Amino acid sequence: MVNDLSERTTLLATLSNAFGPPGNEVNVAEILKKELEDFADEVRVDKLGNIFFYHHGRERYPNVMLAAHMDEVGFLVTFIETTGFLRFQTLGGIPSNILPGQTILLRGEKRDFKGIIGTKPPHIMTDEEKKNVVPIEDLFIDIGAESLEEANNRGMEIGALGVFDIEFAELGGGYLRGKAFDDRAGCTVLVEVFKALKDSHYNLVAVGTVQEEVGGRGARTAAWQLEPDYGLALEGTFAADVPGSREDRMSATLKGGPVITIMDRTTITHPAVLRTLITLGKEKAIPFQFKKVPMGGTDAGVIHLTKAGVPSGTVAVPCRYIHGPVALTHIDDLSNTITLTTEFVKAISRQ
Ligand code: CO
Repeated sequence: MVNDLSERTTLLATLSNAFGPPGNEVNVAEILKKELEDFADEVRVDKLGNIFFYHHGRERYPNVMLAAHMDEVGFLVTFIETTGFLRFQTLGGIPSNILPGQTILLRGEKRDFKGIIGTKPPHIMTDEEKKNVVPIEDLFIDIGAESLEEANNRGMEIGALGVFDIEFAELGGGYLRGKAFDDRAGCTVLVEVFKALKDSHYNLVAVGTVQEEVGGRGARTAAWQLEPDYGLALEGTFAADVPGSREDRMSATLKGGPVITIMDRTTITHPAVLRTLITLGKEKAIPFQFKKVPMGGTDAGVIHLTKAGVPSGTVAVPCRYIHGPVALTHIDDLSNTITLTTEFVKAISRQ
């Protein structure tokens, strides 16, 4: 158990530290491949960059698709000022009020750049400016370049992608801090569940999907190719168990177990999937909680609408502060999500 825990922590750390904004998920795909290629009957990457790991079981069992998105919220360089400052667009839902002062890692063709999202210093802001959120178009990234020419010469260019620049850390007591837990927590679950089922007779495809944060794009084409009988999106979802949150608005809490979606903006979980998850949680005494605020969407939103429809749902690891620079989760939630998902694949396959 101790080994399992430290292995899982190490895997989450590796995935969390990896670079993977929407449109450039190759580093995350490489990590998944390294973890799973010896466990898979077949590995395949499609034209958009989704990576598929197949476990072929017996013919009588349904095809179960597990999806975890490899991308994270990020940044796109849209313009370089003559003074060397970069203008940018966000990729995925990042509130602009948290942006000023963040450290950013940008990837150019030749090398990486460390930068800071800058604003006018507070000392010279008017009282009005201090109260207001600075819109994204007025923010900039400072990479320490003195001119457009210097930025170009160093390899910075329009189209460079970036992510928050944060190193994973263990805080003690099982609490884990890092960037991109949405959805590297889901990727960790994907890896562990696939490994756990390697000797089973079930038919499973684990998919690392691309471009979820900009609208479930990879999962759409992935599910179309697979035509699964069931789909389950594995996620890192928001927990708001922090001072000032009303209990009914917390949605999920840390150490409350895997978060089962009943409904969100894009899906109503199929009753067969929902019932199976709830029954397993109760029968196997795996702690679980429901997502209590039906906001957000996951890959299940596009998977369930594939062709004639795919009974689908979402199970997520609760994480505080997602869609910001750094999130917090607990190892128990990660472990319980792995257990519930593994049991789900077994149970739904036998239905
Ligand atoms: Co997500």
